[in-house]
Amino acid sequence: MIQSNVSLKSLNTFGFDVSSKLFAEANNEDQVRNVIQSNEFLSNKNLILGGGSNVLFTQDFNGIVLRNNINGIELIEEDEESVLVKVGGGVVWHEFVLYCIEKGWSGVENLSLIPGSVGASPMQNIGAYGIEIKELFHELEAINLKTGEIEYFNNSDCQFGYRESVFKNKFKGAYLISRVIYRLSKKQNFNISYGAIEKQLEIMGVQDLSARKISDAVIAIRQSKLPDPKEIGNSGSFFKNPIVSNEQYNRLKANFPKVIGYALGDSQTKLAAGWLIDQTGWKGKTIDNYGVHKNQALVLVNYGGATGKQIYDLSSEILLSVKEKFGVDLEREVNIY
Ligand code: EPU
Repeated sequence: MIQSNVSLKSLNTFGFDVSSKLFAEANNEDQVRNVIQSNEFLSNKNLILGGGSNVLFTQDFNGIVLRNNINGIELIEEDEESVLVKVGGGVVWHEFVLYCIEKGWSGVENLSLIPGSVGASPMQNIGAYGIEIKELFHELEAINLKTGEIEYFNNSDCQFGYRESVFKNKFKGAYLISRVIYRLSKKQNFNISYGAIEKQLEIMGVQDLSARKISDAVIAIRQSKLPDPKEIGNSGSFFKNPIVSNEQYNRLKANFPKVIGYALGDSQTKLAAGWLIDQTGWKGKTIDNYGVHKNQALVLVNYGGATGKQIYDLSSEILLSVKEKFGVDLEREVNIY
């Protein structure tokens, strides 16, 4: 059923008090088809919404929002080593992580507590603490918004990159990701190479590794650095870590010996945007009821009542400061509407 004038306040993790002219929710593929073939959908601009953790509304949405609420987690194949699990796009990402841990399947534990839905996970190839979903991704089902048909995308079809996929580029706005199939390991295949995890496991005195303990460590790290969107409005990293040529990195290093960069292949370096922003003095700054988080400069926060426009303008000022000081162009990770 399509509703009019629906508040999106509880549907975006920034908590912006905006509304959508039209709104519908779909619990399965047939309901998606009903909405996308309706007059309301065909005659308005549209937005497919998942967990609302990567969107910034600068104004009311003058179109139709379709919320993907397709649920279900299904084991579809299993051998000695691994399982293939098909997950509804509307499943909350962290609930999927906890489900896997409960079942004894490893792979997603490093990605604990990432806000958002499973349907959004391939969209920007979510990643944290040494893992990106492209390493576990098998296939997805997406509904073509024009034809209503289901299409299948394997790993290479998705063209995954750092916080990138074909769904943010060539196919932006063209599909609703209805179900995602992940391959998880039945063996204890852990990745604790990321320094902060190792340190945290040590603090926790962990002897025998398990997916549960790694998940607990990741949750502790995230909770110490990142604000909980249930308490303080935010969308996680607001900016992407910028990728520069090795030449540019070396020039920066000559002027700023402490600059933090990670090699990306042979010719490029990924810079820590949090460090760059931190160095410009923005970290922890509060303007009225919004600002830059005190523990992580990548995260912009709404303490309550701020508008998307205010946060957007703040992000523009930060872009400018970083450009002036380092000559580096930051890019926003969130989608602006
Ligand atoms: N740093 C600072 N000041 C800051 C923030 C970071 O100096 O305010 C330094 C840190 O000390 C560290 C380096 O920058 O040496 C990198 O920081 P961190 O390890 O916290 O990771 P990040 O690059 O800031 C990325 C992801 C996070 C993810 C973490 C852990 C992006 C844009 N962000 O952050 O993802 O959790 O790595 O893997 O890639 C998200 O996408 O919403 C998100 C939180």
